[in-house]
Amino acid sequence: MLSYRHAFHAGNHADVLKHLTMSLVFEALGKKDKPYCYIDTHSGGVYYDLNSDEARKTGEAIEGILQVYNHPLLPKSYRSAIARCNDDGRLTRYPGSPAIAQSFQREQDCLHLMELHNTEIELLKQRTGRWHHTSIHHRDGFEGLPALLPPNPRRGLVLVDPSYEIKSDYSKTAQAVEKAYKRWSTGIFAVWYPILIADKSRFMLDQFEQSGIRKILTIEMQRKAEPDETFGMIGSGMLLINPPYQLDQHLDTILPELAKALLGDTAVATVRWLVGE
Ligand SMILES: C[S@@+](CC[C@H](N)C(=O)[O-])C[C@H]1O[C@@H](n2cnc3c(N)ncnc32)[C@H](O)[C@@H]1O
Repeated sequence: MLSYRHAFHAGNHADVLKHLTMSLVFEALGKKDKPYCYIDTHSGGVYYDLNSDEARKTGEAIEGILQVYNHPLLPKSYRSAIARCNDDGRLTRYPGSPAIAQSFQREQDCLHLMELHNTEIELLKQRTGRWHHTSIHHRDGFEGLPALLPPNPRRGLVLVDPSYEIKSDYSKTAQAVEKAYKRWSTGIFAVWYPILIADKSRFMLDQFEQSGIRKILTIEMQRKAEPDETFGMIGSGMLLINPPYQLDQHLDTILPELAKALLGDTAVATVRWLVGE
């Protein structure tokens, strides 16, 4: 049974890290006229109302995107992708990963969007109905990813963004990406992961480190846990295989300040190569 609903968390600090990183990757892919594809294994419901009961209950967007939307270091292309979903100029609707991808999509590019949850898949179908070159797949993203590879066109980005509500999501992520990489070693793979007080992501990162895959960059933002805090998320990370040239340097310049704006004074950002060339 899947209980996670992204509507409670849309626009939080983790979405900001994930979607700003994706935006910089799309900027790099768009520099050449050659087509690219985008594959999203865990798509969610595309758009999120920041005034919904779910968003108000957690208030996560208030400490997330609403905190940094006008920050001078926020990548302009990411801000534009958000602005495109808010015609009246007010930030009340937040774009999920499929909508971010669509805002960069050109005529020649295609999207493959997977989702397993019965409610989310209906939203995904309804909200992407008019998009061009977009395929929707109601299926398990871990199984679907290798099945769609190698893609046509042969350049592009994969996002693997599970909720990790089931502990096995960590090992399934590493296994699916390893299998996918064997079929498409030139693709750019992006994996989002939470940084929890009781950290469960490290063994997944170890698995990637020992996989034989080269060019793996990790990007993390996290704050210190309070002395009485015993569980919960204190930050998040993105693991990128084959990141675009100089993405590491760009993120290293902007993330330290953005991390403090999102997570407070104790926050730090790290950009480091888990495995080099
Ligand atoms: C973190 S949310 C995705 C958020 C989205 N990628 C974004 O950035 O806006 C995770 C999504 O994965 C879906 N999901 C859970 N298990 C799945 C699976 N095995 N395959 C595909 N989707 C799954 C959930 O229903 C949820 O919508």
